Amino acid sequence: MQYGHFDNASREYVITRPDTPLPWINYLGCEAYFGLISNTAGGYSFYRDARLRRLTRYRYNNAPFDVGGRYIYLRDDAADDAAGDFWSPSWQPARRALEDYTCRHGLGYTVIVSTHRGVEASTRYFVPLGENLEVWQLTVTNHRAEPAQLSVFSAIEFCLWDAQDDATNFQRNFNTGQVEVDAEAGVIYHKTEYRERRDHFAYFACSAPLAGFDTQREAFLGPYRGWDDPATVARGASFDSIAHGWQPMGSHHVKLTLQPGESRQIIFLLGYHENPADAKFDPPGSQTINKRTVKPIIAKYLDPTAADAAFAGLGAYWERTLGILQVATPDEHTDRMVNIWNAYQCMITFNMSRSASFFESGIGRGMGFRDSNQDLLGFVHMAPAWARERILDIAATQLPTGGAYHQYQPLTKRGNDAVGGNFNDDPLWLILGVAAYLKETGDWSILDAPVPYDNQPGTEMPLYEHLQRSIQYTLDRLGPHGLPLIGRADWNDCLNLNCFSTTPGESFQTTTNREGKVAESVFIGGLFVLAAKEMAQIANRKSQIADGRWQDAIRNTEYAVRNTQYADYARLAAEMEATVKAHGWDGAWFRRAYDAFGEPVGSAACDEGQIFIEPQGMCLMAGIGLEDGRAEQALAAVRERLATPHGIVLQQPAYSHYYLNLGEISTYPPGYKENAGIFCHTNPWIMIAETMAGHGDMALDYYLRINPSAREAISDVHRCEPYVYAQMIAGCDAPTHGEAKNSWLSGTAAWNYVAISQWILGIRPDYGGLKIAPVVPESWPGFTATRVFRGVTYHIAVRRAGPGNAVALRVDGQAVPGNAIPLPADDRTDVQVEAILGWTFSKTRLPFP
Ligand code: BGC
Ligand code: NOJ
Repeated sequence: MQYGHFDNASREYVITRPDTPLPWINYLGCEAYFGLISNTAGGYSFYRDARLRRLTRYRYNNAPFDVGGRYIYLRDDAADDAAGDFWSPSWQPARRALEDYTCRHGLGYTVIVSTHRGVEASTRYFVPLGENLEVWQLTVTNHRAEPAQLSVFSAIEFCLWDAQDDATNFQRNFNTGQVEVDAEAGVIYHKTEYRERRDHFAYFACSAPLAGFDTQREAFLGPYRGWDDPATVARGASFDSIAHGWQPMGSHHVKLTLQPGESRQIIFLLGYHENPADAKFDPPGSQTINKRTVKPIIAKYLDPTAADAAFAGLGAYWERTLGILQVATPDEHTDRMVNIWNAYQCMITFNMSRSASFFESGIGRGMGFRDSNQDLLGFVHMAPAWARERILDIAATQLPTGGAYHQYQPLTKRGNDAVGGNFNDDPLWLILGVAAYLKETGDWSILDAPVPYDNQPGTEMPLYEHLQRSIQYTLDRLGPHGLPLIGRADWNDCLNLNCFSTTPGESFQTTTNREGKVAESVFIGGLFVLAAKEMAQIANRKSQIADGRWQDAIRNTEYAVRNTQYADYARLAAEMEATVKAHGWDGAWFRRAYDAFGEPVGSAACDEGQIFIEPQGMCLMAGIGLEDGRAEQALAAVRERLATPHGIVLQQPAYSHYYLNLGEISTYPPGYKENAGIFCHTNPWIMIAETMAGHGDMALDYYLRINPSAREAISDVHRCEPYVYAQMIAGCDAPTHGEAKNSWLSGTAAWNYVAISQWILGIRPDYGGLKIAPVVPESWPGFTATRVFRGVTYHIAVRRAGPGNAVALRVDGQAVPGNAIPLPADDRTDVQVEAILGWTFSKTRLPFP
């Protein structure tokens, strides 16, 4: 069953009924001002940080869900009913019957259209590039045979900035709320705490003359009434309320008379504005907001021409951004996700990390160290400058030991003390992030950028030295088998081998661990091999590791690392590989770990949790076992023991009870999250491993099992949005097998993008240039792609000549050896690439005509 359909041409998902199984959301904004918006206009807005600069309220975990939003009410002032006939054109919150409801979620915008008794309303919500505001363009059209007398009410509820405090500290917050209203200009200003330490305020403006306004929620709703039935709307007149404390809100009332066939546009703006600290008030010395800096911005976007131009600018931005990789393959789900939605989701994870979604409250988690490094894999090609900045921000939170804070706050860019560190995989992901950046951009200068440790001025070292310390961090923490110690946890936050928690409610992630000198991670072993191999390549290409200035600085630090060169990193990788083979191999697959007693986890010898997906994926991606048959064995074990029609589960058999020595993983009921859920993030690791083993059919098969577009037809089972990946799909042990949760903000986006574009389609940036190494199904006759890489547009045509994955390349008509396209001369803008797949050198004739 479906709740809508894809419109590829306009790059939209069109939802055709409002009662989707869950709110199906979209994001507004791509720079500093952001919002979430559901298909019924629910959601909220914030400036930069969803916790610390929240503009509007949202009620998580509410019944009904998805309450708090960008609401518009329409009221038929001529209706017979004494209370008038009012409705929400976005269905929520009034939930009256609508005709022709559609919600079009597009790239950075959402349009909700519906009709009620012949009155059509269309609202387009978006954030103009370069501005800290959102535009709602409401167009009301009268399709009746007679004139329509209507009232329009807008409604938003202001959040008192810090979303955490706003939801908890009522004894203070019921007293602080302040607003100013310029009824003449149609602008409501929210200025709570502006009188003291804040230099920022919010505004809510309307382009039409006002019949009234409200700024106090209780006045607008009426006592004991909800958003579904506000007193103001029911009676058809505002109270002109001014909020003093309690719950400041913003509502405009506009009266409209529309002739048959007539349309009218009203623009609402919700924005955030900062004033210089010494020019907050006007006149100086007063308590009135200085509005001189904001008024021109408001005036500009209340004009439909400017709003339309800004909307066109947003479209051009996405056209350019998505144009960096476009493919045409025999599979529509591949095309749709690669060309539009997966790339879009990668940019959203760049902006949001794990902070704000329908499942992430915007309060709990900032930017994850490992998360942000992995997200980068999916967006680096679309925003290399942002990726560079992000890398330097992340690296600046690294600790002098080479360890990492697990999370940092996006607003302050400081490591989060409350969450702490000792997730021993974290530092290694920085190497993968930087490697991806170098491969994409060829910008080797980043390695010399001075970056502090723990944000302490004076501790700056070149980024390259940070990478060296990441490697050293692992080497300094090896366990009894020579495998890396796991610390609090590795990629799997819930495999807490040193925690032994018996206290209810205690966090498995932040509670003090026992002194862990025994529990080891095979996964980190694999990750180390992969990272050390990247370091070998980086060191090899970076002939001059550090200039004289840095050499001295490096020598003088307490945590000095050896100036390890290519050969050393290659040797370290080989040594760890041998250790993984000796102690991480279970006979038919890779083990997961050793617990605090030195007992294997993820072994046939275990009662439950005998095989885990993560080490199969990571060890194979690191190239371990590709030559000696272990890879084939491990992949066969995954196929037999972990694969389901809805994706590959994380481990089997699921843990049926709590294991003190394993931690949070065994707190989840079987089939959910890390306890044998289909943790989608890990599935692309297996897809990549399958391509490395040469199995294109298997790789694409796994890809399509979790591809959201391919699951659209079972939307009633999947329940989350069919246009973006979810973190988790319930596994085969769960009664709800196939149901997705935690959509949008997940490393799943980046890794699937990497798996399909770089490994299955095989268009892979490498240090020396672009590689073409497709491993696609045997039945595919070929595909085409355009890829903008380091400023050059590559027009790629892949054609199958026979079975197998061997590639014969012709670049601008010239056959070239191997599968790497040589970097073109500086003045080239376009390069034609032909790749013949399945051509072997045993054939006498060249594959080219
Ligand atoms: C979840 C993990 C998540 C962790 C982060 C756990 O409860 O199951 O997936 O990474 O919390 O805080
Ligand atoms: C979600 C976290 O954000 C990520 O860092 C972690 O790897 C997975 N959960 C698995 O536990």
